[in-house]
Amino acid sequence: MASRESFMSTIFFFLLLFSLGCKCIASELHLHATQTAVLKVDASPQLARQIPDTLFGIFFEEINHAGAGGIWAELVSNRGFEAGGPHTPSNIDPWSIIGDDSSIFVATDRTSCFSRNTVALRMEVLCDNCPAGGVGIYNPGFWGMNIEDGKIYNLVMYVKSPETVELTVSLTSSDGSQNLASTTIPVSGASNWTKLEQKLVAQGTNRTSRLQITTNKKGVVWFDQVSLMPADTYKGHGFRTELISMMLDLKPRFLRFPGGCFVEGEWLRNAFRWRESIGPWEERPGHFGDVWHYWTDDGLGYYEFLQLSEDLGAAPIWVFNNGISHNDEVDTAAIAPFVKDVLDSLEFARGNADSTWGSVRAAMGHPEPFPVKYVAIGNEDCGKKFYRGNYLKFYNAIREAYPDIQMISNCDASSSPLDHPADLYDFHVYTDSKTLFSMKNTFDRSSRNGPKAFVSEYAVWRSDAGRGSLLASLACFIGRRQLSLLDWRRIVMLFRWQVMHHSS
Ligand SMILES: *[C@@H]1O[C@H](CO)[C@@H](O)[C@H](O)[C@H]1NC(C)=O
Ligand SMILES: *[C@@H]1O[C@H](CO)[C@@H](O)[C@H](O)[C@H]1NC(C)=O
Repeated sequence: MASRESFMSTIFFFLLLFSLGCKCIASELHLHATQTAVLKVDASPQLARQIPDTLFGIFFEEINHAGAGGIWAELVSNRGFEAGGPHTPSNIDPWSIIGDDSSIFVATDRTSCFSRNTVALRMEVLCDNCPAGGVGIYNPGFWGMNIEDGKIYNLVMYVKSPETVELTVSLTSSDGSQNLASTTIPVSGASNWTKLEQKLVAQGTNRTSRLQITTNKKGVVWFDQVSLMPADTYKGHGFRTELISMMLDLKPRFLRFPGGCFVEGEWLRNAFRWRESIGPWEERPGHFGDVWHYWTDDGLGYYEFLQLSEDLGAAPIWVFNNGISHNDEVDTAAIAPFVKDVLDSLEFARGNADSTWGSVRAAMGHPEPFPVKYVAIGNEDCGKKFYRGNYLKFYNAIREAYPDIQMISNCDASSSPLDHPADLYDFHVYTDSKTLFSMKNTFDRSSRNGPKAFVSEYAVWRSDAGRGSLLASLACFIGRRQLSLLDWRRIVMLFRWQVMHHSS
């Protein structure tokens, strides 16, 4: 934010880039070692500008599994069996079956003890003399679970079994041959659901492991909300420590979340809903992010994003849905409940521990308010039919309830003034490197009055970027002369390629 007055910060980057750039060119063209380049930098105080604290931050979107299967440490994919949809039987992918049709019959039904995510898994064991090792189910996580020797993993699952049964829970290699941890849990027969908790200590390492639940006994067992988390997460808050340490190294001063288009949805019914992403994890319904085409159980929800901001020392920037998706919109005449929903979200973050929603936050373990000072009213929706009408409803209600909150418009004020009030305006660029280089003076011509620019998404993309190139990186860095964020979307994709050997 407030990028236009900042020049000093970039000098260092230019120096760094310039020397790297020269080195690369020199080695390619075989220039003589005696040739030198002279770069003069006038760093005199009269040319210096105050840099706002908030100049650099992170944009985090649930895209390419940046959250589910990414920074969020949950190892089980589709832990509540909801990803296949509410109609049963449903696809249980990526869960799969150990055994065959003669030994086991597995199907979803809607007998869960959780009212907002009713799908559960019913496992009927048919064999009297089951194969050695038993029959059951397994979950391969997100492209395999990275199970590490000596580390502790916390398994939580909900089970219902009318008869007494012994369940063996194991962490194994992807083919089941290598056993990294195993224990047997007795389940006493009951007509209700029981929450089971079990620590597993890994006796070996395999990066593509799976979680198995097996038994040898004929009968029926139901499962729901099966979670496996490493005991060691950042500050015990559920985030992967090694990825958070990389985010900390970026020294972000703001965190824009949870999107992006993830906030809008292709359709409103699939948009991120803060209210359904808070409270006990096992009660969250989860949702299918229809823009980026994958299910998330919303274990990384609104509360966790606020917690992440605090842990990173970054100001939270809550991008909320303003009643607009890619394909449908709420008429301004009917937007009132959406406005109330957002006011409730702000009370959840900022209200006292005895307020209606502040008490829910306190019950989750954070009695102190989270200092939300910025909100973005929608994402990339400026041209939409009801944007301005809806925007003003949100703007006026938030201004009245929280006069200090800075509001970010989706409409571009870089070349002409806005026709509506705003504290900042969002500015996104996705282009080729040549165009991004050519944009380096974009904000020189912008008005010094009125809302400030918040360049919250920018990247070189498509054929010019491929899977990452030096030219694309340079263009992004040069863009930083004017732009004010690190492009987390690309950084996350790099993590994926390096750590997971996977691109989506
Ligand atoms: C992990 O398991 C796979 C089989 O799924 C095996 O090929 C591989 O060697 C194992 N890795 C280690 C480090 O044991
Ligand atoms: C199930 O019922 C038993 C006995 O009535 C009770 O002790 C237990 O707390 C119940 N479990 C749950 C999850 O309600």
